[in-house]
Amino acid sequence: MIKVVTLVGARPQFIKAAALSRVIRDSYSSIIKEVLVHSGQHYDENMSEVFFTEMDIPKPNYHLEVGSGSHTQQTAQISLKFEAVLNTEKPDVVVVYGDTNTTIAGALTAAKLNIPVAHIEAGLRSYNKQMPEEVNRVLTDHVSDFLFCPTQTAINNLQKENFSDSIIHHSGDIMYDAALYYGQKADESVLAKNGLEKNNYWLATIHRQSNTDDIKQLNHLFISLLELVKKQNTKLVLPLHPRTKKAIETHLDKAVLEEINSTDNFLLIPPASYLEMVALEKNCSVVFTDSGGVQKEAYFYQKPCVVLREETEWVELVESGHAVLAPTNISDGLSTVLNNNSKDFPQFFGDGKTADFICKIIAKNIQ
Ligand code: UD1
Ligand code: UDP
Repeated sequence: MIKVVTLVGARPQFIKAAALSRVIRDSYSSIIKEVLVHSGQHYDENMSEVFFTEMDIPKPNYHLEVGSGSHTQQTAQISLKFEAVLNTEKPDVVVVYGDTNTTIAGALTAAKLNIPVAHIEAGLRSYNKQMPEEVNRVLTDHVSDFLFCPTQTAINNLQKENFSDSIIHHSGDIMYDAALYYGQKADESVLAKNGLEKNNYWLATIHRQSNTDDIKQLNHLFISLLELVKKQNTKLVLPLHPRTKKAIETHLDKAVLEEINSTDNFLLIPPASYLEMVALEKNCSVVFTDSGGVQKEAYFYQKPCVVLREETEWVELVESGHAVLAPTNISDGLSTVLNNNSKDFPQFFGDGKTADFICKIIAKNIQ
């Protein structure tokens, strides 16, 4: 039996882990045993627990309860506590997802204990080192033994960095697995609850450090969205990440916040559950986002997407014309993406069987 310890901690990791855990339980339980560890990086009910319940993720075997802190505090705390888990569990491989502080802490701790590391969503690059996630993903790739790449671009990036081909695997994107399986269970009650008509509202998410902690940029984004909502008389729904909630309460111009709160067409709502989020994505007319996961889901559900960033790791989305980068001029970004008439959505993200592929590679390579 191969023992896998999986470390998760942030919202998108619960969603990715749901897809892998389900396949391990359904198809590999005679070969692979998974021990699930939650770092506690995200802890609000609607940032953590809701995903476990709704997506039927097993209760974590360990909860490290690190909570929030500076990047170093958070990473160091996770590392310290995770080391104790690894010393107890002595797994054959550690699985980490994406590019959060939980990811780098898990990968580094395992590598120092000489435990093989499998990085799911390897090879992505923004080439912007100001972004905390870029530091996390580059370092994680460099201590990993299995690099599961979601796209051809990710493979090309790793080849440019001279990784050995033997550890690079073109697995496809596990978020596509999640979208296909859980997407069928979308919770459309969220539409009526918020007075939203199908194909007649915009969806936005904002949480990147570069958009929330830069006060000028934070104000610019919210003012631009408010102006667009008023000018085009369209409803916008924005599930608020707790980081962004704190940022707008503290740093958004008070008059702007008041106007947003009194504008019926500008809906700030609490973080959505995954099944609600999928329903919001499937039924909106345009997505505005700085999220990696939401950019891709917009593509999965064939929605035009305005990316509220200067660059993206998911370059295929922009190259195909279905997404446009618009960190500042959102109105122009919207016009550009709405002028894209392509109905062609190539399978950049694989076939939705990424979890199965990953299990097979792990089973084949770890005795
Ligand atoms: C983290 C990841 C980011 C990922 C995002 C997914 C890092 C460096 N960043 O960003 O890559 O895209 O998760 O959502 O790991 N907070 C709460 N309740 C919670 C969680 C957070 O109130 O349950 C607040 C705290 O004030 C905290 C802030 O949000 O300080 C930021 O949380 P943190 O986990 O540090 O970073 P995210 O912005 O969530
Ligand atoms: N998501 C969610 N509720 C929300 C916002 C996002 O369930 O209110 C989901 C979204 O559908 C996607 C994932 O969370 O699957 C993306 O996570 P997030 O935007 O927090 O982080 P990123 O992908 O940028 O790392």
